[in-house]
Amino acid sequence: MPLSPAKSSGKKRILSGVQPSGIQHLGNYFGAMKGHVELQNSGMESFIFIADLHSLTTVRDPKKLGEMVINLALDYLAIGLDPNKTAFFRQSDIPEHTELTWILNCITPVSMLEQAHAYKDTLAKGSKDSTAGLFDYPVLMAVDILIYKPDFVPVGKDQKQHVEIARDIAGKFNRIYGDVFKLPDPMIHELLGFVVGTDGVNKMSKSYGNVINMFADEKTIKKQVMGIVTDSTPVDAPKNPDKDTVYKLYSFFANEDEKTSLAEKYRASGFGYGEAKKLLLEKILEHFKPFRVERERLKQNLGFVKDILKRGADKAREIASVTKAEVWEKVGLNI
Ligand code: ADP
Ligand code: TRP
Repeated sequence: MPLSPAKSSGKKRILSGVQPSGIQHLGNYFGAMKGHVELQNSGMESFIFIADLHSLTTVRDPKKLGEMVINLALDYLAIGLDPNKTAFFRQSDIPEHTELTWILNCITPVSMLEQAHAYKDTLAKGSKDSTAGLFDYPVLMAVDILIYKPDFVPVGKDQKQHVEIARDIAGKFNRIYGDVFKLPDPMIHELLGFVVGTDGVNKMSKSYGNVINMFADEKTIKKQVMGIVTDSTPVDAPKNPDKDTVYKLYSFFANEDEKTSLAEKYRASGFGYGEAKKLLLEKILEHFKPFRVERERLKQNLGFVKDILKRGADKAREIASVTKAEVWEKVGLNI
């Protein structure tokens, strides 16, 4: 019987994935990516992967898919993901993900997948494009997680249900075949909540077109910031910072003193939203400037970036192949 890989190092393990879905925005950054990078210094073993197989549920253009994967890899490395601390890899480099998905499909109740928000939302929108892949998305995600036996899965609130589904499937497998999978806990960035979009109403999301992109050129970011919807309080009237989107976004970047100082300006009269937007723009550009320089450097070295992903995949596969062998033995495929 192979040694359970989750126990081999004695350290707790965290694992998370991000689906490449276009240009990353401040919601992705504060809601997921930044936390993933910070956790590499938590003393836990860290695994982060690019969920390119999940992207196939929506992306049908091969060139675009490749670009999205490389862009996401560049984004992560530029914001400080250290491949010596985090195994950083591409989901599709590990064939065990798709292999185990079939095994778990065979014990997953259809009724469980019918309750998944992503699937229900697609149906609610009346989409005729619903595919078996979209329906099965949570099972592939369950495998992504369970195959590495992590203790924690850091995700945004919107992904909590998927981690719960993974736990349910793991429990069912263990009951039928005997213990293989660990039941992981979701690690939710409760403090951050969600990043509001530039419309001031919805969460920042590509699908609402209300984003501020992390690595867009200065002109685009300026346009996005200046386009933030504010109320119509005149310049010379006091304003409530807590109800304003510019202030909310500024708070993600600023320290306590800076936040207090801006809040005071809001409450005094004579300070307009235009000025607040300029301060926010400065903060965004300043925050991402070193990352932007690093991203450009990496972009000139794509061979180096692909090599990092390959090394990450080698490390991930060592674990995935052991879990696969355990599963094969339990279900009776290793004659
Ligand atoms: P989008 O809604 O733009 O398509 P994704 O669904 O690709 O974004 O988001 C990837 C991850 O980034 C999500 O699982 C979530 O954890 C995080 N995320 C995205 N938007 C936000 C947001 N506005 N606030 C907080 N987290 C977010
Ligand atoms: N579904 C996740 C998202 O949209 C991405 C993802 C795929 C993931 N597999 C995962 C996240 C496994 C955590 C663990 O953000």
